[in-house]
Amino acid sequence: MNDRVPVAEGVGLPWDVAVTDGVAAIAAARERHGDTFVVDSGGQHYLFTFSPTGVESFYALPEEVASKGVADYLMLRRKLPDEIFAGRRTLPGSLFRRDDVTSYLDNLDAALDATFAELGDAGTVDVFALTRRLGHRMGLASWAGPAAADPGSLERLVVAFDALDGSDAFVHPDAMAAIADSGKAVERAALDDVVDVIEGVLRERRSSVQPESLFGRIVAAWAGEPDDVRLRGIALDVALIHVASMSNLMAALGWALVDLVEHPDDAARVAAGDAEWARSCALESTRMAQRSIMSRVVLEPVTFDAGDVVVDVPAGWTISTLLPLLNTSVAPGLDRWDPARWHRHRLAEADALASPMLVTAFGHGRHSCPARPFSLSAMTTAMTRLLGRYDVTSGWTGHPAPVAAQIGGVARAAYPCPIHYVRS
Ligand code: HEM
Repeated sequence: MNDRVPVAEGVGLPWDVAVTDGVAAIAAARERHGDTFVVDSGGQHYLFTFSPTGVESFYALPEEVASKGVADYLMLRRKLPDEIFAGRRTLPGSLFRRDDVTSYLDNLDAALDATFAELGDAGTVDVFALTRRLGHRMGLASWAGPAAADPGSLERLVVAFDALDGSDAFVHPDAMAAIADSGKAVERAALDDVVDVIEGVLRERRSSVQPESLFGRIVAAWAGEPDDVRLRGIALDVALIHVASMSNLMAALGWALVDLVEHPDDAARVAAGDAEWARSCALESTRMAQRSIMSRVVLEPVTFDAGDVVVDVPAGWTISTLLPLLNTSVAPGLDRWDPARWHRHRLAEADALASPMLVTAFGHGRHSCPARPFSLSAMTTAMTRLLGRYDVTSGWTGHPAPVAAQIGGVARAAYPCPIHYVRS
């Protein structure tokens, strides 16, 4: 390791040490040491990179040399029981074959109909609770068959998945030590419950299986196995897909609704059906709500151009950057919510940045999000239908704050964010 790279002494990451605000701790280290520095935490070494060249080098790292897959696994493993990872046959990366998105969006429409029936004509609801429940409904219907989103199954699955929520690993990293001490007892019980419900749906053949659908592909992957192995295998494939996929989307939709409620003129445009504007709003809210720590675990020693210094990074290290320290600060004005800065899915002023890779909603390069088109369509549809049906006002004062300890993913709100709605 190059000895010209400073080590941020006394800085730890929130899953290893008590840190009130993990992002602020890294920001303070960057103030002291510049754009390239090392954090030693929990016996692991992290090379943080923030310069334009460093961020470009980061996105160019090949998976076989510095792995995002391993980094994701190590993060999620802090929260999820080992058995959810072992022997999976359908992984979240295979969710976007031809026609998949159409069927997910059909399920979103059905989930919105059910949501409207629950909301009635007027009331108050927490915006993030609303979007999370919507995500459970749409996701479960998409990968576990429509019957998994029926009222009886849904209520049990929502409770179980809220306990199993893999995103806790980065939203509440400070809770991970206690979860490890407990032997993940709550998570194991929740996973058993998920398996029980999904096995029930399958045994009773309550959902028809379309062979080409994602659910059909999950079921086919286990064909020929003895029934107990088959049903559990399907249920665990569904569980991993669900915990790994939906939570960022529904948090991003929550922030888009928060921002639109705070900008009534833009909300009116979205409600009137301006889908292009709705998509720009979705991108803008997602950009501003990004708390992602982007990480790659080094599998083979790699020479990394961090811009100010070229670093020989040994195997076993992690190379990381942190979107909240880039997205809203690398150029003047980026701290403001302004959907007009997006032209389709590109940032209009990207060429004026020191590197266009310094700002992102869905990532850059080979690992950029395969779910971007689906996520933007889903957010656009949900925003348009919700705001088209209801007049919505906020029940908060001051812009809602993210959970301070969160480091990773799209921000979750620190406090309840009630909206008052009345049928327009
Ligand atoms: C608004 C919602 C979402 C946001 C903001 C988002 C953001 C991102 C970002 C920034 C990355 C790149 C991470 C990196 O380079 O380290 C990524 C990758 C990924 N996302 Fe998303 N995502 C969203 C929704 C989803 C959904 C709904 C799914 C699945 C249903 C999904 C599946 C994936 C997968 C599988 C990857 C890894 C791709 C790879 O390693 O090649 N994402 N996402």
